Order: sequence, then structure tokens, then C-alpha cells
Amino acid sequence: MDKSHRYQNVLNTSYAVLQDYPMDIIGRMSIISSILKTEFSEWIFCGFYRVVKPNLLEIGPYQGNLIACGHITFGRGVCGAAATNNKSIIVDDVSSFPDYIVCDDQTISEIVVPVIKNDKLIAILDIDGDTEGQFDNEDQSFLEELVTLI
Ligand code: SME
Repeated sequence: MDKSHRYQNVLNTSYAVLQDYPMDIIGRMSIISSILKTEFSEWIFCGFYRVVKPNLLEIGPYQGNLIACGHITFGRGVCGAAATNNKSIIVDDVSSFPDYIVCDDQTISEIVVPVIKNDKLIAILDIDGDTEGQFDNEDQSFLEELVTLI
């Protein structure tokens, strides 16, 4: 199945489960990370860093066989850069990203997407892959739509 069909599955399931269903953001992040990782089982890590204080991200719901780092200051690593600029970032090769934060030795590429609610950054969706250039604009646009469900 091609990538757009896989994302369509993710969106269909997520809308069916979450749209018009009252649940707090932690529950929504848990369900979305599970739906994503079930569809994209090849990903190494997929989950959320939540804004818990000004300029500080803390690990939230995620899926993957690694122990994620607990806190990331805005401006640090890929997640912190996205939090500072409120912009998605695609990294084809993490070894070339300045100040990259290593959580495991298998990750080669990464995509991060800000989660904005009521005009405020509340979290960063972070996904790690084991292949160079694994993520592209198609991933970005589907993921940016997906996080509107949080
Ligand atoms: N690599 C991320 C840190 C989080 S892990 O990938 C789970 C970064 O540089 O922000």
C-alpha cells in the first residue's frame, strides 16, 4: 500500500475515534501515537513532547522501543527548534543536524510537527525513521492535518 493510502487509513481511524469525542489532550495523543505506530510499524519512535513550562518540552505519550529523553529545552535538538519556530522540520540525516539529541543509535531521519491549539503551541509530534530521507512533504502535510485532531 502506498504512503498516502496508509495516511488515509490513519486519518479515517483518527477522525472516527476522536472527532466530536470529548477527551483530554493526553488521551488524544495516546490514541494518535498508537494509530500511527500501528500503521507505520517500521518507524522507530512516534510520539509527543508536551509544552509543560515556558520554553520546556516534556515527554508525553509515545510508541517505540526506546527510552525517550525526558525534557528538551526550546531551541535544542530538532524538537526544540520546531518549538521555537512553530514550524515542522524534516531531517534527512540526523548526523548533519546541529545540536541533534540522540535517544537511540538506529535513528537516521526524523520529522517533527508542532501541535497548535487555540493559537498556542501545546506539543511537538516527533517521528524517527531508520532510513535516510524517509520523510517528505507528503508526510508533513498528512501529519499537520492529523495533529489538528488533538
Ligand atoms: N531527536 C530528538 C529528541 C527526541 S528523540 O528522537 C525521541 C531531537 O533532536 O529533538
